[in-house]
Amino acid sequence: MQELVIKKIDRLKGAVTVPGDKSISHRAVMFAAISEGKSAVFNFLESEDCQNTKKAFQQLGIKFSTRGKALIVYGHGLHGLAVSPEPIDCGNSGTTMRLISGILAGQKFTSIITGDKYLRRRPMKRVIAPLRAMSAKIKAVGDESAPLRISGGDLQGIQYILPVASAQVKSCILLAGLYAAGKTRVIEPVPTRDHTERMLAYLGAKINKKGLKTTIQGNTRLKGNKIIVPGDISSAAFLLVAASIIPGSRILIKNVGVNPTRNGIVTILKKMGAKITIKNKRNFGAEPVADLEVRSAALHGITIAGRIIPNIIDEIPVLAVAAALARGKTIIRGAKELRVKETDRIKSMVSQLKKMGVNIKEQEDGLVIYGPAVLKGAVVNSFGDHRTAMSLAVAALAAQGKTEIKDTECINTSFPGFEKLLRKISV
Ligand code: S3P
Repeated sequence: MQELVIKKIDRLKGAVTVPGDKSISHRAVMFAAISEGKSAVFNFLESEDCQNTKKAFQQLGIKFSTRGKALIVYGHGLHGLAVSPEPIDCGNSGTTMRLISGILAGQKFTSIITGDKYLRRRPMKRVIAPLRAMSAKIKAVGDESAPLRISGGDLQGIQYILPVASAQVKSCILLAGLYAAGKTRVIEPVPTRDHTERMLAYLGAKINKKGLKTTIQGNTRLKGNKIIVPGDISSAAFLLVAASIIPGSRILIKNVGVNPTRNGIVTILKKMGAKITIKNKRNFGAEPVADLEVRSAALHGITIAGRIIPNIIDEIPVLAVAAALARGKTIIRGAKELRVKETDRIKSMVSQLKKMGVNIKEQEDGLVIYGPAVLKGAVVNSFGDHRTAMSLAVAALAAQGKTEIKDTECINTSFPGFEKLLRKISV
C-alpha cells in the first residue's frame, strides 16, 4: 500500500497548471464516441477514472489515437456502438457508471457494467428508476447496486423531477433522452454542474435550459469537434486552500475552469477572507477558464449551506481543512451526499482531522469545525479516497512535524502528479 509522507513547509510559491477537468474529460470521450466523425480532445485527464471511460468505449468498438497533444476519438454516431464482449469495468468511477448507463439504455443490445468494491457499494437506484421509466430493462444487485445489466433500445421521452441534486443522474437521463422518442425533460431541485448541457449543445444536440428545467430532443445527430478541457477547479481547490492557509504563500494557477456551476470554492474561500484574484478570463469552447492568483490570508469561519452545496460538494473535504485553520466556527450543512461519495467523507474527515488536533464534530448532513487549530503531524488514512488523501496532504503542509498518509495510490483517480506538483511549489 502506497503512502505519502509530508513535512511542514514554509510557504508555496510559483506558477502552475493543474491536470484537465475530470468531469469534462469523461464527457469529452463519451460524447465524442457517439458523435459523427473525429473529435480532437486537448488536455484530456489521463487519470485512472478517465482511462476507465476510454477503456469502456474501446470495448464498445470505439478507436482512439494520439496526434501531438490531442486525444483523437473516432466517433461512430448515436447508433454506432458495438456490443461489448466482456462486462465493462468502471473501476472507481461513479461518473463513468452513471453516465454510460444512459447511453447503454439507448442501445439495442445488452451490456453489463461493474466497478471496484467502492463503486459496487454506491447507490445506483437513482439512475435505474428514471431509465426504467423510459422503458430500459435493468437488473441490479438487490435492485440497487452494480453490477448492472442493461438491455436498452426503444426508449420513451419522460419528464423527471430529480429527487437528489446530482449532475451524474441529470446527465444519465439527458443522454438516454438523446436516444428516446420525443422530448426528455429533467427538473433539478437546485443547479448542478452543467458540463453535459454545454458540451452536448456544442456538438449539435437540441438542448434547451430554462432555470432548473433542461429539455433535450431525441434522435438529434452529434458532430465531432475540437474540445479543449480546462484545468480542474476541484484539483486547483487543494492549492487554493494550501496557499491561503500557509503564511507568506503566493501562487498562480493557470487555465482553470471557472464554470459558474463549479466555482463555488472561490466564492466560499473569499467569504472566509481568502485573497484570490481571477485573471485573464476567456473561453475554451463551451467552458469559461481563468488564471487564479492566491495569496495567503487570515481566514474566518462561516456557515456553508443551501444552494451552493452541490457546486462545492467535491471541495468540502479540503474546505474542512481551511475551516480548521480559520478563526471561529464553520458550519457545513445540507451535505449528506458526502456520505455516498467514493467513501463516507464526513466520517473520514472527522476521524482523521481529529488525529491532527482539529476540533471537528460530525453531523448527519455535514460538519462543525472550531478554529483555529494548531495542526500536528500524525499517521492518517485516506481509506482509498482521492479527495480525502489530498485534503489531508494540504493539512499536513501546515502541520507541525511529519504526517504519514496511508493508502494514497487513489490520488491517481483524479490528480496524477499531485505530489510532484506540491514539491515543485513548496519552499
Ligand atoms: C460529477 C458530479 C458529482 C461529483 C462527481 C462528478 C459529474 O456527483 O461529486 O465528482 O461529473 O457529473 P453527483 O452527481 O453524484 O453529485
